Amino acid sequence: MRIVSGIQPTSQLHIGNYLGAIKQWIPLQENNECVFFIADLHAITTPYDPKNLQNAIKETVIAYISAGLNPEKAIIFVQSQIKEHTELGWLLNTICPIGELERMTQYKDKSKKFKANINAGLLDYPVLQTADVLLYKGQAVPVGKDQEQHIELMRTLSRKFNQKFGQTFSEPASMILKEGSKIMSLTDPKKKMSKSDDPKSCIFLFDEPEVITKKILSAQTDSGKDVIYNVTKKPGISNLLTIYSLLTGKTTQQLEDEFRDKGYGDFKKSLALVVVNYLEPFRRKQKELATREVYIQEILKQGHSRALTIAQETIKEVKEKMGLV
Ligand code: TYM
Repeated sequence: MRIVSGIQPTSQLHIGNYLGAIKQWIPLQENNECVFFIADLHAITTPYDPKNLQNAIKETVIAYISAGLNPEKAIIFVQSQIKEHTELGWLLNTICPIGELERMTQYKDKSKKFKANINAGLLDYPVLQTADVLLYKGQAVPVGKDQEQHIELMRTLSRKFNQKFGQTFSEPASMILKEGSKIMSLTDPKKKMSKSDDPKSCIFLFDEPEVITKKILSAQTDSGKDVIYNVTKKPGISNLLTIYSLLTGKTTQQLEDEFRDKGYGDFKKSLALVVVNYLEPFRRKQKELATREVYIQEILKQGHSRALTIAQETIKEVKEKMGLV
């Protein structure tokens, strides 16, 4: 199966990106053709500093590898280096009803958050995202829950294209985990953990042990003192239980039993230890890769060349079908 997914290089990756997306990618590499890219063309739709972008891209590649992606298996590259993404994005624009874009939750949220910069790219973002997947004839897209609506649009546009121009694309399925697809903010557990919020609300993959511990110990919890999983009544503790469960393989029920006579304090201390230990090999690998500039460039070069072959083939077919060649 052809699997496609990507992450924006907007800041460091956090544990939500890992548990919702990357953790799924790792086993998929074994028996599928995986295309995992750095979505830099998406990242420029919200305010950013051009001087930092190349570094952020490099850090995201390092994060991919440190978290377990295997460049010998998965195709890893930078989106903007393959101009066929924007080309297919434009072609798909011509069949995308604008109403579909205006109702997107992420567009509405980002328009509120970045009021001074509601640009056309922000609205058109899901069409480019559709192009990202259809360009590689992706059949499945492993992501967090916040991307579900965008993947629905991929199916709509794929169907429309096929109807208008003849069978070309399959309809990509979303791969969204039952647990972990929406990790919440540590400082406001009613909101999802987000790269663009306060750093205290996120555990970044490469946070130092003391920082992780401090963030977890000061994470917002709920009234009462029992460690019980109840998303409505105890959103803070439930979010921490979810993280604990996903990193250890213990069920939330087992964790409730384990911490039955203990308070939030003991639970948080134990969770801090779990997170610190889980991320230790990631930090080690990241430090090693930070000094291997040539190796990182080589990964991107190889990924680019493998991706380009597929992308050019698809664009040729699409342009022929649309009467452009
Ligand atoms: P981005 O960069 O916002 O997030 C990257 C991935 O992490 C997931 N995610 C989360 N999962 C669980 N809990 C959270 N709190 C959390 N926050 C983020 C996201 O769902 C995503 O899987 N539009 C995409 C990037 C993209 C893309 C694509 C993805 C561009 N083209 C094509 C798939 C296919 C985005 O902004 O992800």
